[in-house]
Amino acid sequence: MRWLVTGGAGYIGAHVVAALGAAGVDPVVVDDLSTGHAGRLPAGVPLVRADVRDGTALAGLFRRHRFDGVIHLAARKDVAESTAHPLRYYGENLDGLRSILAAVTSSGTSSVLFSSSAAVYGTPSRCPVRESDPTAPENVYGRTKLIGEWMLRDAAGSAGFGWCALRYFNVAGAGAPHLRDHGGTNLVPRLLRAAAEGRPATVYGTDYPTPDGTAVRDYVHVADIADAHVRAAVALRHGEVRDEILNVGRGEGASVLQMIAAVAAALGRPLPYSAQHRRAGDPADVVASPARIRDLLGWRARHDLHAIVTSAAAEDRAGPAQKDVPRTAVPEQHPGPRSKNQIKNAQR
Ligand SMILES: NC(=O)c1ccc[n+]([C@@H]2O[C@H](COP(=O)([O-])OP(=O)(O)OC[C@H]3O[C@@H](n4cnc5c(N)ncnc54)[C@H](O)[C@@H]3O)[C@@H](O)[C@H]2O)c1
Repeated sequence: MRWLVTGGAGYIGAHVVAALGAAGVDPVVVDDLSTGHAGRLPAGVPLVRADVRDGTALAGLFRRHRFDGVIHLAARKDVAESTAHPLRYYGENLDGLRSILAAVTSSGTSSVLFSSSAAVYGTPSRCPVRESDPTAPENVYGRTKLIGEWMLRDAAGSAGFGWCALRYFNVAGAGAPHLRDHGGTNLVPRLLRAAAEGRPATVYGTDYPTPDGTAVRDYVHVADIADAHVRAAVALRHGEVRDEILNVGRGEGASVLQMIAAVAAALGRPLPYSAQHRRAGDPADVVASPARIRDLLGWRARHDLHAIVTSAAAEDRAGPAQKDVPRTAVPEQHPGPRSKNQIKNAQR
């Protein structure tokens, strides 16, 4: 099986690529490296550096390969940035998906797996929240994911491909130190950065209606997220799943203060914090019901909170992944259409 992984050099994408490889699936990555790092990719994995909104680049890619499916992770994910720049987020997240779905449709590719998010629920009507519960995203980022699910369903209904949207909850941890999350905004990397810089961690909101007043989330290990992709890809391929939306979470909540305590325990030293006002678009309590993905794909989270935090805090002796410097990945050659001038210059 050969699958295209968009955003495969990103934090979650690189774990998905590694898990696909381990399962005997052949991944090809397209990534513009805007937030990704080529050095996260294993040896021999072809990397096409392109923006997924570039229809010409995608057409060439789909001409060169016959993909069994596409895993579409490439997107922006910063909630605060999405509030400040809504049109950028609608543009990048939805134009990117539309462009991928156009390529899938015209190439007759049979399966699409989409990175959705718990952000589609906003403040859930109940916790643990089920896939059939109402969606009411409270920020632009979450709305781009919900509209993405609708776009996917509509395109699949017309073109006839199978699809699955995975609603990840709060992804954290690392399968290996060089794969960890360098993103600035997710809680665990923020806490680790504060500890490394010797300053207090910022806690946004201490007056939520939760047991300790701080926001509660469902943290799930990125390796478990990657495993869910492999299972969903295989199920799509075998027609066991056709059009499905699945939560991917552990079904257990942890508050920000509990996460601070877990990080402090992993580092072996206290982590002071300073309390700030709540951020716009941050719900109080978001915890998954993972019953459906367990029943359909046999998936369950294998890593607990301790494993999540200690893997995220593990030292990388090789240093952080170098942006844009491929350590092992193979940049794919894609000649594409060339202008007359380019041909003339090349002949000189
Ligand atoms: N991290 C989380 O907790 C979380 C939770 C829910 C959903 N998600 C979703 O999972 C996906 C991956 O998130 P991540 O945490 O790995 O983020 P990330 O920023 O590490 O990865 C995104 C990758 O996509 C690439 N990319 C972005 N825009 C692109 C474009 N237009 N063309 C080509 N490549 C592009 C980036 O270079 C990067 O490699 C995103 O869709 C995100 O919304 C993440």
